[in-house]
Amino acid sequence: MNTHTEAHRIPCTAAPLWGLSLLRTMRADYLGYVTRLQNQHPDIAQVQVLNEHITHVFHPDWVRQVLVDQADALIRWERATEVFSISMGQSVLVTEGAQWQRQRRMLQPGFTPKRVAGYASLMASAAHDALNSLMQRVGDQSVDMDALMTDMTLDVILRALFGSHQVRDALPVSQAIQTLSHSGFSELFKPFSWPLWMPLPSVRKVRHAKQTLDRVIQQHIQAQQSTASDDGHDLLTMLRLARDPENPEQRLSAQELHDQTMVMFQAGHETTATAMTWWSGLIARHPEVAERIHAEVDAVLQGQTPTPATLQQMPWLQASLKEALRLYPPAAILFTRRALKDLQVGPWTVPQGQLIAFTPYVIQRDPRWFELPDEFKPERFLPGAPDIPRGVWMPFGTGPRVCIGQHFALLEMGLIAAMLMQRFRLEWPEGEPWPESDLAVTLRPAQAIRLKLHQRAVITLPQIG
Ligand code: HEM
Repeated sequence: MNTHTEAHRIPCTAAPLWGLSLLRTMRADYLGYVTRLQNQHPDIAQVQVLNEHITHVFHPDWVRQVLVDQADALIRWERATEVFSISMGQSVLVTEGAQWQRQRRMLQPGFTPKRVAGYASLMASAAHDALNSLMQRVGDQSVDMDALMTDMTLDVILRALFGSHQVRDALPVSQAIQTLSHSGFSELFKPFSWPLWMPLPSVRKVRHAKQTLDRVIQQHIQAQQSTASDDGHDLLTMLRLARDPENPEQRLSAQELHDQTMVMFQAGHETTATAMTWWSGLIARHPEVAERIHAEVDAVLQGQTPTPATLQQMPWLQASLKEALRLYPPAAILFTRRALKDLQVGPWTVPQGQLIAFTPYVIQRDPRWFELPDEFKPERFLPGAPDIPRGVWMPFGTGPRVCIGQHFALLEMGLIAAMLMQRFRLEWPEGEPWPESDLAVTLRPAQAIRLKLHQRAVITLPQIG
């Protein structure tokens, strides 16, 4: 293998003024900037911003070579860790090394496909409640899909975390999550963050948001502790009882329990809501796909509530969700990593100490792997379609730090999608342009997606208790 020498350097884009202007470009339109970089250098590119060298890896084999094979030699970019620890404490999303390994080992059993399937009826009840109240409300007026999906996924995560919840929790919790998410993203581009006690308006907003979530979590932890019951099937009970398989006396400390609950709120709610909002818009714009899904949902479910098993019998539904996650991955960029030692990336060496960036949004729109990459074509993911190269579809990341909630999210998305399609036909308002995307922490539509939801006539729906 070649190594990093003057004659054989990673393709490098020179930026004037030590990359200061680049920093402005990146802040204004990060995804546009990375897309242009990848057009110039399809597999790998290096840029320098101030005193940092950042290597962008685009080739899926090399993405895996770094994130899977050399995961032990990476940590997350310290500034991101610092920013996210403000709201997520020392949780599994933030920690590194032995502490992260221990937390991940303890949490993992709660997120296996089998365990997650146990949440299906609870997820379906949340969707059932939201969609049935919508059926009573909508005539032919349009519905803000982001608001609908945000309410529904928040209800799901609250029920999954706590077994049940007070309806009054929902709105302040949702607003608090959004505040933390937006401030988190803008903090990334600043050299430091003010401590939460500072009497500045922007800091006060973040402090209040965090206090809101802290309060809700604490109330639920105390309520569970006071009933002294370990019988619950919710995530909080799972977290309270979690033991380290390598050290079975060890449980999560009180602070760790709080922080893990916090991360589930933040990582597990807005991401799924955003994915479902994009999906609903894409379905409304593609009636030919919607028709296939309606046919599938009607034939397989026959008016019954979907389950993990019946979802597997709906290839168009599944493929449409995967395709939406390809075009609009909610986590459009992964956490940038720092190399703890020299890393091999294809024929190149990234020296110890440098940064490495991965952008699923760009990798998933590379025309080498996806014909007409900007078009919505769920058939790419149907059984029997040509193989998609390994590692190219990566909305949940890859390697040991892959999203712990991926099975949870896919099940939740499948159930919500199937139940929505059982009840409604989605119509894109005539003349309305397709929205731009806006990268905060998640990739959201910059303009609201509002759809006309027409009730479908010929279904009998089951009652869920
Ligand atoms: C469509 C929905 C979701 C998407 C697209 C998504 C995406 C991701 C991605 C890309 C990562 C890895 C980031 C990286 O490598 O830098 C991640 C990590 C994580 N996700 Fe998700 N996620 C989703 C839903 C969820 C849900 C429902 C939960 C929990 C209930 C969750 C909890 C987490 C946690 C705790 C981590 C950190 C894992 C670790 O570092 O060990 N996510 N997610």
